[in-house]
Amino acid sequence: NPTKPLAGKRVLVTAGGTMERIDPVRYITNDSSGKMGYAIAEAAKRMGADVTLVTAKASIAAPTGMKVVRVESTLDMMDAVLARFEQTDIVIKAAAVADYRPAYPSDIKIKKKDDTMTLELVKNPDIAQTLGERKTTQFIVSFAAETNNGEQYALDKLKRKKSDLLVLNDVTVPGAGFGTDTNIVQIFDGTGLVAALPQMSKRDVAERLLSLVAERLDGRAGS
Ligand code: PMT
Repeated sequence: NPTKPLAGKRVLVTAGGTMERIDPVRYITNDSSGKMGYAIAEAAKRMGADVTLVTAKASIAAPTGMKVVRVESTLDMMDAVLARFEQTDIVIKAAAVADYRPAYPSDIKIKKKDDTMTLELVKNPDIAQTLGERKTTQFIVSFAAETNNGEQYALDKLKRKKSDLLVLNDVTVPGAGFGTDTNIVQIFDGTGLVAALPQMSKRDVAERLLSLVAERLDGRAGS
């Protein structure tokens, strides 16, 4: 079906920025607004997919007409994604995930004391990499938000996380990355650059990306 190229596909999109609690009133997070991931979830729905959106903190309202699972931390997001992974055909990891979390989150508000304070952090699991290790037939798209050496890091990430496609946004360029309504991305597969898109709305980026995914799924043997 040319107007619904993702009909019958189960698509899971992660979006937003994970929050890592320090105490009941404080946390570590990042600048993700959710706009990129939400645009992808909406585009997937328009293209006929059965969409599940796993969203961490975002600054816009979540889309309607799809399953929305709200999570806070990276560990919560990991659980929510892994629980659904087997029943998923396409995973798109647009969320900005915290690499570290406080080692000893406090149940009560931490009081002001000395002039300096050290917060110990521990590494979070890498959700995309875990999916890459467990995948059977799933098609996985990960993102890379970089400020330098983007292409090099992007290709490393693609291989390490065993993703099928990787979307690189240089978050230092105006009109790209966190919070904006537009993005400027390069899309890579294991052989290198597949598409370099000029500045366009996140809605258009989402449609271009999902068209590439649909083409590649069509090209797979037996489908
Ligand atoms: O939400 P917006 O304001 O619209 O901004 C969009 C965006 C900039 C957040 C988005 O386009 C983007 O680039 N998302 C990925 C940001 C990110 O965390 O990149 P990363 O290079 O740190 O991570 C690489 C990939 O691994 C990502 O797909 C990420 O979801 C995933 N990851 C990272 C760490 C971790 N512990 N687990 C993961 O799964």
